[in-house]
Formats: sequence, structure tokens, C-alpha cells
Amino acid sequence: MTEFADLRGKAAVITGGGGVLGSSMGTALAGVGVRVALLDRDGQLARSKAEAIAAATGGEAVGLKTDVLARKELEAAAAEVEARWGAADFLINAAGGNAPAATTRLERLEAGSDPDAGFFGVDVEAFRRTVDLNLMGTVLPSLVFGRAMARRGSGAILNISSMSAIRPLTKVVAYSASKAAVSNFTAWLAVHLAGTGVRVNAIAPGFFLTEQNRFLLTDEKTGVLTARGGKIVAGTPQRRFGAPEDLHGLVLYLLSEKSAFVTGAVVPVDGGFNAYAGV
Ligand SMILES: NC(=O)c1ccc[n+]([C@@H]2O[C@H](COP(=O)([O-])OP(=O)(O)OC[C@H]3O[C@@H](n4cnc5c(N)ncnc54)[C@H](O)[C@@H]3O)[C@@H](O)[C@H]2O)c1
Repeated sequence: MTEFADLRGKAAVITGGGGVLGSSMGTALAGVGVRVALLDRDGQLARSKAEAIAAATGGEAVGLKTDVLARKELEAAAAEVEARWGAADFLINAAGGNAPAATTRLERLEAGSDPDAGFFGVDVEAFRRTVDLNLMGTVLPSLVFGRAMARRGSGAILNISSMSAIRPLTKVVAYSASKAAVSNFTAWLAVHLAGTGVRVNAIAPGFFLTEQNRFLLTDEKTGVLTARGGKIVAGTPQRRFGAPEDLHGLVLYLLSEKSAFVTGAVVPVDGGFNAYAGV
């Protein structure tokens, strides 16, 4: 893709880079000549995905065991990237997810429902962990990798929010609130850094079937859609889940100079879910 020639030779850090969406974005970037560092708390997964990316694209990719909630580990990863390729030009904050215990069993409570089957039974520690992972797991890498970008006067940060930040889905209370915080932080940091030349945007993916939501959307034994999975597809005008490749064009665009005047945006990639009122 010669259209993104300005990206060639740049270095991108992708947190949660061992995951489905993070590694797929890494493949897209390596395909246009970006050097890619996949940071994941699962170091083995990050390394194997980096090897696969290098083999598939002929590009440079490295996997580094890094917990986004451990500032020291992030600083060590930043030093490692800098020693290889110079300070990172781009940061994609793709580490994130939901904790099943921070999910309500019932979608809604009615008079007479068991309160513990709903919001009142949510495990507060799991709620806190979810907020930590999604919000602080975006803030801390931005602190560590954004500093050199601000100093240098160029770079881009791309956060991964969610459709649930815009239209909170039932059950996933902590996930929705924490992704809304990611969208808000995206706008805040974009304004704060606009004068430095560093841009900050976010993608709000709709529904992509991955490990973190498979238990909610499909029967894990049969793979058949759950009632909830069926509702999501019915609420998506394009009538399907997203495929990781559906994010590629937007990721390249938002990191490239082609989007030089775009900052503070949260862009849905959702098959029309957000636009559809259901009638
Ligand atoms: N799949 C979807 O439908 C969907 C929709 C909207 C948003 N998202 C978001 O996209 C991002 C990527 O999700 P995915 O679907 O690829 O999920 P995934 O579970 O495949 O990937 C997440 C990766 O993050 C890593 N991770 C978790 N905690 C970490 C930590 N503390 N430090 C470092 N790495 C950590 C995991 O090991 C995993 O490899 C997440 O932020 C998710 O919330 C996904």
C-alpha cells in the first residue's frame, strides 16, 4: 500500500499486542513498513504474534512482556524500543477488556428481581480491576510513550474505546464506564497536546468476536449465537460481527499524515450499530 508511504520506517508500540485486534493492527502496520513492538502481559503470546507478523509481512516486529499497569515495565519496554528503532512514533492502546465478575447476570432488574443478579451483586474489586485495565492501562502507556513524542513535536496516540462507551450495553457495567472514560481521556489529551504536534484519537469498535466476549455472544461448546449475540447482529445494519481487518484502513489513516487535521476524534467502526435506532 504505497498510499501510506509516510508511515514507512516509523516505530509503533501496540499494547495488548498479543490479542486479536492488537496483533491484527500490527500486521496492517508492518505491511506498510512500520516497525512494530507488541507489548502484552503474556510475553509468549506477544513474541509468537511478532514472529508471525514478521514472517507474513517481511517487516520488523518484536514482542515484549509488559503489563500496562506496571510503569517500570512500560519504561523498560520504551528503552528497548528506543535502543532498536529510536523513540516510538506511534502508540496504540489496545490492551483492555472486561472481567466476567464485573458483569451483571440479568440485563435489567424488575420489581421483585433478585438484586444480586443485577448491579447490586457486582463484584466491586472486579469493577475496579476493569477500570484500572481500560483507563489506567491507557493513561500509563500514554505517559511513558507520549513524553518523547511531545518533546519531539510529532507522533500519534490511538486509543481503543468501544461502542459500549457511546451506547452502554446491558450487563457490562464496568467495561462501559471505563471505555467512556477512555473516550473522554482521548479528547482531553488531544486538546492538551494539540500545540505539540502530537495527535490523539480513538476507535470505537462495534462487535468483533474475540476471546473476551465469546462467552457472552456464543455458546462456547457449540459456537451457536446466544440470544445476546443474535440481538447484536440484529442491531447491526450490516448484519454481521466485525472482522479485525475492518479496522485496518482507519488505523493506517489515523496514524498517517493524511489525518493531520484529525485529533480528539472517537470514530465508530461498527457496521452501522451506532446509527441504527432499531426501527
Ligand atoms: N472484540 C471486540 O468486539 C471489541 C469491541 C470494542 C473494543 N474492544 C477493545 O479492543 C481492545 C483489544 O481487544 P481484543 O478484542 O483484541 O481482545 P483480546 O483479549 O484478544 O486482546 C487483549 C490483549 O490484552 C492483553 N492484556 C490484558 N491485560 C493486560 C495488561 N494488564 N497489560 C498488558 N496486556 C494486557 C491480553 O493478554 C490480550 O492479549 C480492548 O481494549 C477491547 O476492550 C474489543
